[in-house]
Amino acid sequence: MNHPAPKTIGQQYGRRSWAEPWKIKMVEPIEMVSHDVREKAMAAAGYNTFLLRSDDVYIDLLTDSGTSAMSDRQWAGLMLGDESYAGSRNFYHLEDAVQSYYGYQYVVPTHQGRGAEHLISKAVIRPGMVVPGNMYFTTTRLHQELAGGRFVDVIIDEAHDPADPHLFKGNVDLDKLQALIDDVGAEQIAYISLAGTVNMAGGQPVSMANVKALRALCDRYGIRIYLDATRMVENCYFIQQHEDGYADKPIAAILKEFCSYTDGAWMSAKKDNLVNIGGWLAVNDEEVFDLARNMVVVYEGLHTYGGMAGRDMEALAIGIEESVQDDHVCSRVGQVLYLGDLLTEWGVPIVTPIGGHAIFLDAKRFYPHIPQDQFPAQTLAAELYLDAGVRGMERGNVSAGRDPETGDHRYPALELTRLAIPRRVYTQAHMDVVAESVKAVYDKRLQTKGLRMVYEPQYLRFFQARFEPLELD
Ligand code: F0G
Repeated sequence: MNHPAPKTIGQQYGRRSWAEPWKIKMVEPIEMVSHDVREKAMAAAGYNTFLLRSDDVYIDLLTDSGTSAMSDRQWAGLMLGDESYAGSRNFYHLEDAVQSYYGYQYVVPTHQGRGAEHLISKAVIRPGMVVPGNMYFTTTRLHQELAGGRFVDVIIDEAHDPADPHLFKGNVDLDKLQALIDDVGAEQIAYISLAGTVNMAGGQPVSMANVKALRALCDRYGIRIYLDATRMVENCYFIQQHEDGYADKPIAAILKEFCSYTDGAWMSAKKDNLVNIGGWLAVNDEEVFDLARNMVVVYEGLHTYGGMAGRDMEALAIGIEESVQDDHVCSRVGQVLYLGDLLTEWGVPIVTPIGGHAIFLDAKRFYPHIPQDQFPAQTLAAELYLDAGVRGMERGNVSAGRDPETGDHRYPALELTRLAIPRRVYTQAHMDVVAESVKAVYDKRLQTKGLRMVYEPQYLRFFQARFEPLELD
């Protein structure tokens, strides 16, 4: 199938530039520490960017999670926090925002995304059940496994190829799903774990046509679909840009339609929803809601705060409304595309099409001489920090962890280093500095050696693992 090339921001707007739909009211100084300090900091952090102190980082692209700049309205909302233990008015505002913009009926607040993943996994997975999904996410899959489930990847093959031009590489492969249903039986499928966009594939979107077809297939077997809505607003931007019939629809309408084909969602509000902490679970099924609402009091807090302060819920409710504005989404994804276009122009291998929240450097093509068990993506993240204090994160062999049955590394097809762009935080000049640093690291790629792991924690090892550089010849 041939796909048209994604439109650049320049093409969408003719020759006119676009700009951020905000101006800066408060600044937070940052500075680049010396090369000497960076070398010492990297060694002390065991070559793991998660273990660096943020004061030693210049431009922090570790994650777009909890790193957004809040608006003046959100900061004002903090002052309206109702810190009552039960029945806080801010919860009702949040509930109303989720119902209005995502369209689900019942809302359970949680402290962040993984809190909601925990609740939904425990509520619907029985030991031995299978959870098909469009590629794993680290915390999501772990909660599914801890609840006794087995995650099975049913994303289209194109998603595993960092250079494939498919515009909706997040799509579910319905034939793979059908084969799985035939194999294990529909009653063994806990639910479909559908993420929009797909973080580990490079921020790749799911098309509206795909979710509609998925709904039809699942309806034939009575299978539920739960959405990881963490970056669903960004997913909607790609539908608006590339899918027939959506060019003139507002993001908010596309979001509501997409969610209407699913039975509920879990949310890390630290991403799309523009807050520094928070999450929620929302479902349409009263029985699932009942279970989740009961469990939230065990694991998170009462069902009208779920681990958040009242003020956090207020900022989140306002953030939801701001997050679906077309000019916001256009400039947010536009900044990611700007960085990606620069790197592509300079011949640096990245995942294409460019996704919604981050640039993913393709470490296998970047360092073809470093074998995957010497962690090329981890090496690249370390090298970028050493070059100019830019912090990214590994999304490859280390993140994939070990197969629980064999104990071996999982060796994923995608060995990527992610540069995630926080929302409303950095300017285009910061993106230029980042691009130039990536280019400098690329230019000396053949002199770069890999790493060996010297400490490996049991769970989610990428957060705390430590490495040492392999000796130079
Ligand atoms: N789902 C997706 C797709 C995510 O990207 C994340 C977090 C979560 C769920 C879990 O949410 O962190 O609020 O508990 N991703 C972060 C990242 C950590 O950097 O991509 P959480």
